Amino acid sequence: MIEIRDLYFSYPENKDRFILNGIDLIIEEGKSVSIMGANGSGKTTLARCLNGLFRPTRGQVLVDGLNTANETENFEVRKLVGMVFQNPDNQIVSTTVEREVAFGLENLGIDPAEMHERVKNVLNDFNLSEYMFHSPHYLSGGEKQLLAVAAVLVMRPKYLILDEPTSLLDPFSRDRILEMTLRNGKFVRQVTPILITQFPEETLHTERLIVLNQGRVFLDGSPEEVFEHRESLATIGVGVPIEWELKEWLT
Ligand SMILES: Nc1ncnc2c1ncn2[C@@H]1O[C@H](COP(=O)(O)OP(=O)(O)O)[C@@H](O)[C@H]1O
Ligand SMILES: [Mg+2]
Repeated sequence: MIEIRDLYFSYPENKDRFILNGIDLIIEEGKSVSIMGANGSGKTTLARCLNGLFRPTRGQVLVDGLNTANETENFEVRKLVGMVFQNPDNQIVSTTVEREVAFGLENLGIDPAEMHERVKNVLNDFNLSEYMFHSPHYLSGGEKQLLAVAAVLVMRPKYLILDEPTSLLDPFSRDRILEMTLRNGKFVRQVTPILITQFPEETLHTERLIVLNQGRVFLDGSPEEVFEHRESLATIGVGVPIEWELKEWLT
């Protein structure tokens, strides 16, 4: 469980401007969540507070009881909460696909035999085995993002934050990423996905949708419940799936 208690955050360059303005949330284990909100609403800042990259200015973030503000606990939090970014080019560091997936495991001190096994399996699951010895540079955008997801999942985090992972991808690749992170039973049983997205349809693959506006929780419920508030969502720059747009016309 991730507990966010009265979380306020301001960047050091602008201490008086709170980007997160008193967020209280509990993210339960095993229940997939998506987060929407207009540009600048604080989604990425929140994500970085959840994995301990940023410490709260006020309030607390507890991941399985570990406080991100505490130095030693923070280190553990980063292992529990994996993160995938919008642009895989900013995430991929290695010279081959195989090394990229092994990299995090080496840092965790996993023994070579287990590492080999885990790398082989995850590349197989992600259909990347044939590129094992290739440079990530030659992969398509979609394959690079799959590799970035594989490289995080192989470390077996408990929570997986995906920060607009599909926004640079074509529809086919978008669907592959959603398949591997939200629908594929093998991984969904293993991690709790937290998907930040600008595509309303994508949230329908998760059990809960949290909408942020100016660093506050604006709506929180099942995606179906949240999208009933089509008009108020429009005022904060958040759209609804096409079905909800059409409802207006059909009723
Ligand atoms: N490193 C930073 N320093 C100062 N302000 C920042 C920094 N990063 C983001 N911000 C500001 O914080 C606000 C929220 O940004 P962000 O969390 O990236 O929102 P979102 O991901 O929802 O688009 C924006 O107004 C942005 O200008
Ligand atoms: Mg962002």
